[in-house]
Amino acid sequence: MTLALDTPRLHLSQVQIEDWVEYYSILSAPETSAHTDLPRAPTEKRAKGLVGWMIRTSQQAKGFAWMVRLVETDVLIGCIRLNSIDKSASVAVIGYEFGKSWWGHGYATESLIAVTKHCHEGMKLFRLEAWTLPGNPASDRVLIKAGFRYEGTQRQKMIIGSQRFDQRLFGRLADD
Ligand SMILES: CC(C)(COP(=O)(O)OP(=O)(O)OC[C@H]1O[C@@H](n2cnc3c(N)ncnc32)[C@H](O)[C@@H]1OP(=O)(O)O)[C@@H](O)C(=O)NCCC(=O)NCCS
Repeated sequence: MTLALDTPRLHLSQVQIEDWVEYYSILSAPETSAHTDLPRAPTEKRAKGLVGWMIRTSQQAKGFAWMVRLVETDVLIGCIRLNSIDKSASVAVIGYEFGKSWWGHGYATESLIAVTKHCHEGMKLFRLEAWTLPGNPASDRVLIKAGFRYEGTQRQKMIIGSQRFDQRLFGRLADD
């Protein structure tokens, strides 16, 4: 598997445990988790635990995570990952989050395009899925710009805290 991916402005590298410090500053901002199932107000320990989980899922070939850095400054601006890989169905579920300071520059789209290309061509995954919560049009837009199609809303699929949410499902096939 190719571990590192490069785009004109970004370097995507396989997550390492030491990334948790920079990742924590992104994860702990309330706007990062607002429309996700990420932990609200995470402790440093929780952020480190999440990075540890990303590493374990890659070691078990159940997922894979890239940390996204700006080529120019090497600053960590986000994370994009395969949260689950189903090898028999050739399907993976993608998730991502970027720090608010870097929103609106096309970085999420640039990363997602690189990752989807790698998933289809390098990892030979046929179907990629992603979901968004209602009220996150920026993420819907990123998915559409990266070639995903909106496939419908799964009603009340998610429980976050004690609240249920609809899930908006997006999919992208290798031959789309
Ligand atoms: C969603 C997220 C990844 C987008 O990152 P980003 O780097 O700003 O994304 P991009 O710049 O590549 O593209 C954003 C697009 O959304 C559009 N957009 C932003 N806010 C919008 C809004 N309120 N309504 C409609 N479109 C919106 C932008 O205009 C842009 O589209 P355009 O290029 O056609 O103009 C980022 O906001 C984020 O990390 N949010 C918190 C975590 C999260 O929600 N993760 C996804 C969980 S499903």
